[in-house]
Amino acid sequence: MTVYGIIGVGAISAAIVRGLCRAGQSGPPPDVLLSPRNARLAAELTGQFPTVQVAVSNQQVVDGASVLLLCLRPQDAASALSALTFRPGLEIISVMAGITVHRLTQIITPVTDLARSIPLPDVALGQGVTPLFPPSPAASALFSRLGTVIEVQDERTFEALSASTATVAALLNYLGTVAAWLTGAGVPAPLASRYVAAVFSGVLNPLQTAAEVDFGKLAHNHQTPGGLNEQFLGVLKQAGTFRAVERGLDQVLERLDSRQSQG
Ligand SMILES: NC(=O)c1ccc[n+]([C@@H]2O[C@H](COP(=O)([O-])OP(=O)(O)OC[C@H]3O[C@@H](n4cnc5c(N)ncnc54)[C@H](OP(=O)(O)O)[C@@H]3O)[C@@H](O)[C@H]2O)c1
Repeated sequence: MTVYGIIGVGAISAAIVRGLCRAGQSGPPPDVLLSPRNARLAAELTGQFPTVQVAVSNQQVVDGASVLLLCLRPQDAASALSALTFRPGLEIISVMAGITVHRLTQIITPVTDLARSIPLPDVALGQGVTPLFPPSPAASALFSRLGTVIEVQDERTFEALSASTATVAALLNYLGTVAAWLTGAGVPAPLASRYVAAVFSGVLNPLQTAAEVDFGKLAHNHQTPGGLNEQFLGVLKQAGTFRAVERGLDQVLERLDSRQSQG
């Protein structure tokens, strides 16, 4: 039976554990072995889920895992992982942004079965859409339990998808600004937030199952010529908002690329 070992207990690994152990799945939850650092969160997870245990050391996680997940912050990866011994054939899945397969094979030796992944917090609900590179049966099996997977054929595409996920906080800030503006206009704060969430869920939820997604066409369909959406979009275009989005994405991708050369 699969034992998932996790090195780096934090926001994304907690979401993965919650997704693996959530109620309502067909089979029993898998065994999970957590690294000891961040004892508070590890204790919360072991208290909540009987198949989750905490190891005494990172090496014990490596030795006890049949599939090992690397969930460290990128800047901690080299020092934490180079101190460990890995057995040949261990299946390894990295969630760490910007650390390429090539760089990981320099840090971890020997490594024969390695995949990168981009899980997002909705894996906790089994609703993740997780890109993988290169395709790997172990990573597909894991993330299929947590939603759906996208097998990406080249690392450049994978890196660009990773960069695009950096826009989520900005989107939430945008929605928060709309809600705060409503509150300033006299709408009670809970109603303002709920209404904004409902409006955007109504736009975005149907896209999950749409045959095709064409954002240009959708934006066009939401604008009456001479209407209010067209007016608001015009203000943002004139302010250079969308050029700033492109510049921001370029900078994120450059930062991801630069991590290859970091120690
Ligand atoms: N959060 C997301 O939504 C998300 C999505 C996709 C990918 N990722 C990637 O996932 C990785 C982790 O992100 P995160 O947001 O989960 O970070 P996080 O919440 O900061 O978790 C990282 C954890 O690793 C621990 N750690 C540091 N050094 C360690 C060591 N030597 N041994 C064992 N544990 C150690 C940290 O402990 P201390 O706090 O004590 O240092 C922390 O608890 C990053 O590489 C990120 O790029 C995150």
